[in-house]
Amino acid sequence: MIAPGKDEPVRIETVVVPDPGPGEAVVRVQACGVCHTDLHYKQGGINDEFPFLLGHEAAGVVEAVGAGVTDVEPGDFVILNWRAVCGKCRACLRGRPWYCFDTHNAQQKMTLASTGQELSPALGIGAFAEKTLVAAGQCTKVDPRVAPEVAGLLGCGVMAGIGAAINTGNVGRGDSVAVIGCGGVGDAAIAGSQLAGAATIIAVDIDDRKLETARSMGATHTVNSRENDPVEAIRELTGGFGADVVIEAVGRPETYRQAFYARDLAGTVVLVGVPTPEMKLELPLLDVFGRGGSLKSSWYGDCLPSRDFPMLVDLHLQGRLDLGAFVTETIQLDEVEKAFERMHHGDVLRSVVVL
Ligand code: APR
Ligand code: ZN
Ligand code: ZN
Repeated sequence: MIAPGKDEPVRIETVVVPDPGPGEAVVRVQACGVCHTDLHYKQGGINDEFPFLLGHEAAGVVEAVGAGVTDVEPGDFVILNWRAVCGKCRACLRGRPWYCFDTHNAQQKMTLASTGQELSPALGIGAFAEKTLVAAGQCTKVDPRVAPEVAGLLGCGVMAGIGAAINTGNVGRGDSVAVIGCGGVGDAAIAGSQLAGAATIIAVDIDDRKLETARSMGATHTVNSRENDPVEAIRELTGGFGADVVIEAVGRPETYRQAFYARDLAGTVVLVGVPTPEMKLELPLLDVFGRGGSLKSSWYGDCLPSRDFPMLVDLHLQGRLDLGAFVTETIQLDEVEKAFERMHHGDVLRSVVVL
């Protein structure tokens, strides 16, 4: 599936996938979620470049591996992540692998069969396709009993949300947590907070449909921030203090501000929502200084795929984490354009292409 040009509908094309070179793997894709980042890329290109290969929330079976690959082998069921991390650099060793200095994707390029043009895959994956070429380190083997459409979601949005709570926010037993913005990422942060034993989980959104879903994900309280001041509501629900951890999953100045003021003194704010380059937020420095605590941003849920993917799949298989709740619908490859429409209208948590 390629994005041919700015705002043009996506299109199915024949793509040549090279045999895996050293350190690479070819994966037969079984499922791939439709994510906002695909939509952003479709609208603006990858670094303004078109055409490119779409799709990056994927799971499938390793078909072939290149020289020197030992961690996965043909037949393994794997979840793909955006780029292989080295595990050795300063960032990796300090437990923040997502800031690794030496991440990489596959070296070889996939090409358009009709013209031979090289195609960059979205986030180094390009998985709205029957198969794709990745760096072997982008493949994490997990228990094959998990449904592919569920597993694939861990490759991006759901991991970002769960990781924001358990890795970045360090939500602990008995904590109060507020999550602002309850799309797929916010709901995953709610599920992650529940998993971590939070006592109070307050979901904030402007859409009542989203608040209803948030409740089924584990929210104990909901606040419609069109009708109520969310900062006051969160304070009221936490004995007048504010939440121990506030997770922002929208990416707008007003919700960043709400997150900042809704946390308890010395609490933690975790920023997962991605703002646009022109967005700015002005805060009184005395509030920044006086409220203490920490402001953290969470890239990809600060996940270490080899640690987190198998753990979350196991929790799902044990019935302790309902990852299936994130799959609103499964669709065919030729329905991706429609799925973007539905996403745009806020109708779905995730549409997942099954192949
Ligand atoms: N206050 C509260 N909630 C809001 C507001 C607001 N001002 N504006 C929008 N929302 C809600 C929407 O109603 C929706 O439920 O935020 C949610 C956003 O969800 P999605 O659009 O489904 O996005 P999602 O995939 O969850 O990603 C959220 O995280 O990783 C980032 O790039 C991603 O910035 C995006 C954010
Ligand atoms: Zn994504
Ligand atoms: Zn590294």
